[in-house]
Amino acid sequence: MHPEALTEAAARVAARLDALAGCTDTPGEITRLFLSPAHRRSLALLKAWMTEARLATRLDASGTLVATRAGADAEWPTLLLGSHIDTVRDAGKYDGCLGIVLAIEAAAALGGEALPYGLQIRAFGDEEGVRFPVTLTTAHATAGTFDRTWLDVRDEAGVTLRQALSDFGLDSDQADACAAAGAAAYLEVHIEQGPVLEHAGAPLGIVTAIAAAARFVVQVNGRAGHAGTVPMDRRQDALAAACAMILALRNIARDAGDVVATTGSIAVEPGAPNTIPALCRFTIDLRAPQDAALAAAEAGVRRALAGVAEAERVTLDISRTHAAPATACATQLQSLLAGAVAACGLPAPALGSGAGHDGMAIAGLCPIGMLFVRCAGGVSHSPAERVAQEDIAVALQALLHALRAFRPDIMRDA
Ligand code: GLV
Ligand code: MN
Ligand code: MN
Repeated sequence: MHPEALTEAAARVAARLDALAGCTDTPGEITRLFLSPAHRRSLALLKAWMTEARLATRLDASGTLVATRAGADAEWPTLLLGSHIDTVRDAGKYDGCLGIVLAIEAAAALGGEALPYGLQIRAFGDEEGVRFPVTLTTAHATAGTFDRTWLDVRDEAGVTLRQALSDFGLDSDQADACAAAGAAAYLEVHIEQGPVLEHAGAPLGIVTAIAAAARFVVQVNGRAGHAGTVPMDRRQDALAAACAMILALRNIARDAGDVVATTGSIAVEPGAPNTIPALCRFTIDLRAPQDAALAAAEAGVRRALAGVAEAERVTLDISRTHAAPATACATQLQSLLAGAVAACGLPAPALGSGAGHDGMAIAGLCPIGMLFVRCAGGVSHSPAERVAQEDIAVALQALLHALRAFRPDIMRDA
């Protein structure tokens, strides 16, 4: 791309990310949950930009917006590009959106240029797993691994996923019937969400693998009582027990070294200042670069929580709501992306991803590859998330190199 055109394209990407940031369920911040009104508004923007880029769009039954490049031979294998349009609460504007908007910009830049494969962009709907206690459902639908039992899970307001899909105008019964056909490979551009590239002084990096992850909802059942009358040694305080559990799991992760454990959400019932908590429900997000380390940490957490429950005379229910093994990026796609970054005259450091991505589900369908883009201070899942416009420009340039170099047959032995 001509340098001026590249600068213009990067500015357009930045402006589109600003426009998407305006699609929020909570004014004053960026919170765009799966199948919410803000999700619907963001899809209208994406659809308009996809159409402008001469892509044919449709919304599949799971909530993924699919845009297909015209003119590809129907028999040709397809290269999928994608990322997610949903956000965490009070998010930044790059996580997920950057990959979709860049892919649209790349398709527009290619115009009618001949490529020996089909190209499709997928805007997934629930990579974050914030609204429902399941996650990656839309990417699993693309991979053909959507689990119908997920339709019965409920959000905080008691709305089932089935109902939410149907309120969005989708046929929830078809959510397990929208696997992508003929997918040769999947590529995703995403912000790094960590500090490695910034420390290396490199705007782009090649992902080697995505860490294993599991999520749990823990319910601690104690006994309600009067805050002024029940002696301290006779209490079964669900919240006090949960606090000890949360600190125990943090220590397990610290001691393990390569494990991270987070409790990001907690609810207490009945929730009155003068009533001893009868119930506490909290989440655990556990990750490790290797499956074995994650399994060992999970076993340690279960033992520790059971020990605290016994000591505090409360009972415990632990349900696992998400599990994804460590996912390797295909070596052929790592090489393709490294060549593309080198063609931009840049170093191409390789790095692992501690964050989860749609590719973890798509890996069940086809080989995956990921290109990371440096973000300021490594900050993400925060309104302070920032990516320099010059880095957006080189990411677009590298993606275009990769798209022009990709040949489905490089994936034959993947
Ligand atoms: C998504 O950002 C995740 O890693 O949970
Ligand atoms: Mn993301
Ligand atoms: Mn995220």
